Amino acid sequence: MADYPSLDIDLYDPAILPDPWPVLARIREAGPIVWNEQGYWMTAHDRVCRQIMNQPDAIGQEGLIASLFGEEAFISTDERTTHNALRNVWVSAFGKSGVDALVPVVRKVVGAMLDAVEAKLREDGQVDIVPALCRPLPAYVIAHMMGVADDMIPTVIEWADHMANATAGGLPIDYENCPYWLASEKAKEDLAAYLIGQIRYRRTNPGDDLISRIAQSEIGGRISEQAMMVNIRQLLFAGNETTSNWLGHILVTLGEYPDERRALREDRMLLPAALEEVLRWQGVTQVLPRGVKQAGASVFGQELPVGAEVVLLLGAAGRDPERYETPDAFDIQREPKPHLAFGFGLHSCLGATLARMEAFEVASAILDRLPEYRIARPLTFGNFSLRGPTSVWIERLEG
Ligand code: HEM
Repeated sequence: MADYPSLDIDLYDPAILPDPWPVLARIREAGPIVWNEQGYWMTAHDRVCRQIMNQPDAIGQEGLIASLFGEEAFISTDERTTHNALRNVWVSAFGKSGVDALVPVVRKVVGAMLDAVEAKLREDGQVDIVPALCRPLPAYVIAHMMGVADDMIPTVIEWADHMANATAGGLPIDYENCPYWLASEKAKEDLAAYLIGQIRYRRTNPGDDLISRIAQSEIGGRISEQAMMVNIRQLLFAGNETTSNWLGHILVTLGEYPDERRALREDRMLLPAALEEVLRWQGVTQVLPRGVKQAGASVFGQELPVGAEVVLLLGAAGRDPERYETPDAFDIQREPKPHLAFGFGLHSCLGATLARMEAFEVASAILDRLPEYRIARPLTFGNFSLRGPTSVWIERLEG
């Protein structure tokens, strides 16, 4: 008998997607760090996730993250100098003033998308708000920041969707045979070819966009074209599915909690904390993979061998009763506490301010323009790794 807790759980079983919380609670109750007989370690505890994210030299981005994003992307790099130099290229674009400058663009696009949603509601009585708003908005925003032409946006969404689905066949990944992984690899190649063309063009025709920023930067002059492409590609991926899934959860929650919706309509000051509460309660990044790099690495007394894969269950950490009272309740008056939905430490999310702005703009516009609605059909969900609703049919109620 092994002297550590062990369970056999397929996190990618579609049956658990609509309500993964009981399974995640079982993992948490089994111990701080649990062996999954599917072939990896996992933790559902907030403080264990933090401890792991605090030791990137011992347990870091090796393995799935580096394979998915490419080793030269700064999300894959634990070496501080290179990581920080690359991240710094875009820090101001994703900081408060960079994001504030995008508000008018986002407001206009959300307005136009909601015009179409309202027309559809008048015509058909119901509309699926995911393809009408939640999915295209973040793709539009990040493509706009990159200076990608509007007519490329549907293709960008398709590429990003394949990448987001890379883990849908379950963990550990069979890199040679898993159809989801292979589809993601193909999408990455197509995206790479497109981005290389964009980089070459921006080198001689710089503009005020994210691709030009790296093409014109000091570090951009030192790294290969391939490395530059990989860093841009990570942004396109990271800024897409995550935000659209958060928007989907927000729309569902506002539809299912009419009292909270009315309270937010009356007092918009409550909105930012309520949106954070949605993200804590319905985390998007359920699976954050890590790889053990250093001999002797240990987590809460459990030594982990070099090469082992470790899964941080960030969504589950958002419902850890050790950190949050009544964690399964959606409570917009909850005492605010930093959650882990945007990561922690060296690799904490570069796009959090942008995602928050998009969430705020969407939720405000919905409260203004669709003050009373309900969820009209059963929800469907995508892949567990980045869990979010793939269709949310809504119906207007008389207000
Ligand atoms: C609700 C929306 C979002 C969620 C839940 C989210 C979540 C996360 C998480 C959990 C990490 C940590 C990754 C790790 O430790 O391995 C991360 C990192 C990152 N995110 Fe986000 N993200 C969101 C939106 C965005 C947006 C809009 C962008 C912009 C393009 C973005 C860009 C990045 C980048 C570049 C990193 C890597 C940072 C680094 O390594 O220094 N994210 N995000």
